[in-house]
Amino acid sequence: MSYKQDRKNNFPEWPIYDHNEINALSGVIKSRNWWGGFPGDQKGENVWRFQEEFARFQEAKHSIAVCNGTVAIESVLMALNVGMGDEVIVSDYTFVASASAVIATNAVPIFCDIDPDTLVMDINKIESLITERTKAIIPVHLGGNPVELDRLLEIANKNDLYIIEDCSHAHGSRYKGKRMGNWGIAGTFSFQASKIITSGEGGAIICNSEDLADKIYSYIDCGRRKNGSSYAHYSYGTNYRLGEFNAALLRKQLEKFPEQHKIRNEHAQYLGKKLNEIDGIQVMKLTRGTEECGYYIYPIVFDPSQFGEITKTAFKKKLNKNGIPTVDNYPPLHKLDCFKNIKLKKGIDYSKANWGLEKSINNNFPVVSDIYSRSIEFPHETLLASKIKLDSIVEYIKSLK
Ligand SMILES: Cc1ncc(COP(=O)(O)O)c(C=O)c1O
Repeated sequence: MSYKQDRKNNFPEWPIYDHNEINALSGVIKSRNWWGGFPGDQKGENVWRFQEEFARFQEAKHSIAVCNGTVAIESVLMALNVGMGDEVIVSDYTFVASASAVIATNAVPIFCDIDPDTLVMDINKIESLITERTKAIIPVHLGGNPVELDRLLEIANKNDLYIIEDCSHAHGSRYKGKRMGNWGIAGTFSFQASKIITSGEGGAIICNSEDLADKIYSYIDCGRRKNGSSYAHYSYGTNYRLGEFNAALLRKQLEKFPEQHKIRNEHAQYLGKKLNEIDGIQVMKLTRGTEECGYYIYPIVFDPSQFGEITKTAFKKKLNKNGIPTVDNYPPLHKLDCFKNIKLKKGIDYSKANWGLEKSINNNFPVVSDIYSRSIEFPHETLLASKIKLDSIVEYIKSLK
């Protein structure tokens, strides 16, 4: 398969689409069913079909489509009755949404430092963060790299905690035989514009419990029940539904995904082998037991002393100037203004959190602070480039020594 190349730098452009996406969208327009419809009639077939297709792809029993990945996390927490006074352990190295969704439920996120090799939450640090208020853990599979879910499950089971996997980077990732999102009680996904399956905005939740799926569905559709009548509202709920246009696009993107996923996995291995041979470059190590990786991002960590004490900003600038695209890394959550000043939500006591004011210093999160200062990320579409283009990245990085 050949992908349309960015005219400026010759790397593939994202998102990738063809006449199938265009026809799918015009099909929705002509159908006059522009939303999924009431649960009883399910008039707009794309939303309902996408849910089935995505569940099948992720090897889960249930999938609920929502309007983004942030509310996907909130919806699971709400369905599990996690809220006021509860604590939820979240990786410190993720997009703000993994924690802001916790804030939305009036619970308090507690940040966990990361492993320096895999860049995902350090399982060895979890137990020290558990208190009598802890209700759940949100592992984030950064760049599609699975958190060691078997070990995390042991800890969660011992302490009676829920695991909600944030799989926003991990569509298609597989660890020890299971697709991500099936290890915990639920998995949440984002289909925002940069994601590896996208419709501009969108999200989904997968789970294997019918009871939980029903509760989540009710929450995201105004307290309705699947197969219930239109104006029967059984429980408190809101409207986080996905629309037909997004679902129609997602169905086409999902068809394209397996081939892209295969190339990304092959090329990541190819590129990783060559980059790791350069002194001072370490590619994100896949967690032992990973069988497939979503590769939403492809992070590398560099040793400044091997590159004339170059800063991350200068390193990135040089790559970009030479036509090699990068994306900005997430600043660790403890560094974000909203978590430093702790004035987040009226009436909520954040004083027991392990962040805020003087607690938000880098020394309290040493690994992520160090990694953030010397890592660079390539977007997933880079991995769809030809091997010759990938070689050019390796050669250019070598030339910076
Ligand atoms: C790790 C992670 N969690 C959650 C989200 C939230 O997804 P969305 O932007 O669709 O709300 C994102 C994406 O942006 C993300 O990267």
